[in-house]
Amino acid sequence: MAVSDGTGKPRPEIRGDILFDHIRTLSLIGADPLGGRTRLTLTEEDRKARDILVKWMKELDLDVRVDRFGNIFGILEGKDGGKDSLMIGSHIDTVIHAGPYDGCYGVLSGLAVARAFREAGCIPGRSLVVAAFTNEEGVRFQPDMLGSLAFVGGIPADEALSVKDDGGTTVGEALSRIGYNGNEEPGFLIPSEYLELHVEQGPRLDTEKIRIGVVEGVQGISWWRVSITGKANHAGTTPTNMRHDAGYAAASVSVFLRDLAVSTGTTLATIGTINFEPGAVNVIPSRAVFTVDLRDPDCTRLTEAEEKLAEFLQKTAGEEGVRISAEHLVRFDPVVFDRGLADEIEKVAAARGLSSMRMVSGAGHDAQMMARMCRAAMIFVPSVGGISHNPDEHTSEDDMAAGAEVLLDVVLKLLGD
Ligand code: GLV
Ligand code: MN
Ligand code: MN
Repeated sequence: MAVSDGTGKPRPEIRGDILFDHIRTLSLIGADPLGGRTRLTLTEEDRKARDILVKWMKELDLDVRVDRFGNIFGILEGKDGGKDSLMIGSHIDTVIHAGPYDGCYGVLSGLAVARAFREAGCIPGRSLVVAAFTNEEGVRFQPDMLGSLAFVGGIPADEALSVKDDGGTTVGEALSRIGYNGNEEPGFLIPSEYLELHVEQGPRLDTEKIRIGVVEGVQGISWWRVSITGKANHAGTTPTNMRHDAGYAAASVSVFLRDLAVSTGTTLATIGTINFEPGAVNVIPSRAVFTVDLRDPDCTRLTEAEEKLAEFLQKTAGEEGVRISAEHLVRFDPVVFDRGLADEIEKVAAARGLSSMRMVSGAGHDAQMMARMCRAAMIFVPSVGGISHNPDEHTSEDDMAAGAEVLLDVVLKLLGD
């Protein structure tokens, strides 16, 4: 809604009602009966969500462009004729059985900022770009944040397009199938600033009753796929000391990782997928394949955790008489965001009377890739109980509106008129 600031000039304002309605609409795409939604990247569900987003962008008369990786950009051209821009972005793909806000809140708040300009009849000094990046979650294709990584040139285009899912389908094939194989090349758009608004996905803001998180950086991420090959044998007749049990070896890695996390205090370790073969109640597993997600805000400690895991795998292979191989799926160093932008977010929050705190993100975000290209920063709002990657993910409408208003105020300061 356009509200005059007393000088007769309309001031752009966030339309919370439309923002919440858009979030609800996207949350129904890929919905399951248990209250979650699954919209893995480049699936039919993802296509439906993309189509709606593009429709909303066009309704705001944004110039919609799609690049070779399926990243979607809605451009509101500034008075400078598009010479320079500020980008607001995030993602609309989800994990399996996801909550409604992760990623969608950021993209749709970007759209709410664009709407605020349109409804106030304001043309910003520089262009505003609203972006939705492909495969942020990394569930179907690894690495995660693949769209933004490719956009900033962090992976050669052909390599990004030939990444395969578990069924052997490449990113390029999946993009063509859903009609989002655009033709913009990496680097067609180089913004000067990137902002991402996101739910915290952790408990700090909610626990400390703070409204706004000023995100100073993102912790490092290391993903592995570990394959253990032992020997299948009878569960009832094979003495323990004669087993080459891939299942037992995998379980001991899980226990080792928990001890490692507890002993460092900063490293986080998760085995999020595991599969045993042949997978029968009375057969010792001949094979175990599982993923490991290691994270730490400190690069040296992350490297130490990787080294300790490698040593443990070697020791376990010897002790249990199994073969173990580990394939590195993802390695992203910790990222530090732009200090000046963080200061701006903090000032804007204070001017709105909102409490704020500085923090490091535990989750990965497209902002960490965009930080390779331009000044980047993130704004967090509280996640109730710190729950995310779960249908119970929840943020109040008051908090979502406050985050979007802080985003708008920062954009107004940066874009000028
Ligand atoms: C993205 O959601 C991540 O895994 O941090
Ligand atoms: Mn996210
Ligand atoms: Mn996520």
